[in-house]
Amino acid sequence: MTTSTVIPTVIVTGASRGIGAAIAPELARRGYHVIVNYRRDADAAADVVAGIEAAGGGATALAADVTDPDAVGALVSAVRADHGSIDALVVNANTAPPPFAAFADLAWSDFAAKVTGELAGAFHITQRVVQVMRAQGSGRLVFVGSTAADYVGGGRLAHGTAKAALATFARHVAAETARDGISVLTVAPGAVRTEATAAILDAAREKALADNSVLHRVLEPADVAAAVGLALDPALRPATGSVLRVDAGWSVLVGGPAA
Ligand SMILES: NC(=O)c1ccc[n+]([C@@H]2O[C@H](COP(=O)([O-])OP(=O)(O)OC[C@H]3O[C@@H](n4cnc5c(N)ncnc54)[C@H](OP(=O)(O)O)[C@@H]3O)[C@@H](O)[C@H]2O)c1
Repeated sequence: MTTSTVIPTVIVTGASRGIGAAIAPELARRGYHVIVNYRRDADAAADVVAGIEAAGGGATALAADVTDPDAVGALVSAVRADHGSIDALVVNANTAPPPFAAFADLAWSDFAAKVTGELAGAFHITQRVVQVMRAQGSGRLVFVGSTAADYVGGGRLAHGTAKAALATFARHVAAETARDGISVLTVAPGAVRTEATAAILDAAREKALADNSVLHRVLEPADVAAAVGLALDPALRPATGSVLRVDAGWSVLVGGPAA
């Protein structure tokens, strides 16, 4: 008699670089076949897939602009056709890089682009994947939020507003899907070294962040990836609807430097 092992499938949006490119191999290591979603950079996505395969895991790169409902529909259909189930979804894509500006200098168009881009990148794919998970009777969703949802300053008004809306969206989805066997967590990082933050995380800013965190260091994408891996663990189902902060203890100390 032969026994077949069913390999769970996870979609990670925006996995061609930055935090998503660290989440993808972490989830492959945890036994998932990873759908490495990206928008434009096919070579970078192929590198992520190659790295996973070299380590003995399974991954597929699939392009889709996750703010476009038609592209999302095609992505979800392709994953179902190839893998049958969608066991987990990580909503990570940096669909709308934040305009860092004080309120007085912030243009409505930049604010609106950030908030609508963030929410479009979560809304369409979550809605489609939840349909699939409901039919399966199980699934896990993780949203990559930000400590900017709760802490003000640094010209992060648009980013913080968008991430606060994302966290609220995640809580509502958690409430409406729990009876279908779906659990939801938001992982909220502090500042992480990626291409997206290269322009604002200079040495002085990194030192200030490190000095004001319990762990005396800034975050790397791998720190967030590890938390996302834990957030997908079925043992955390009772934590559905909650937010897991990953900020090296920065939020513990807001207002004063580490001892
Ligand atoms: N870096 C930080 O300090 C930090 C802190 C807290 C939270 N976060 C959050 O963490 C997430 C990842 O940020 P990051 O710093 O890793 O960003 P990043 O380095 O800019 O990477 C962005 C990724 O998103 C993809 N992407 C962008 N728009 C997309 C779209 N419309 N559809 C599909 N994929 C798209 C990019 O793919 P292509 O290049 O192929 O387009 C790329 O793979 C974001 O949600 C961000 O808000 C970041």
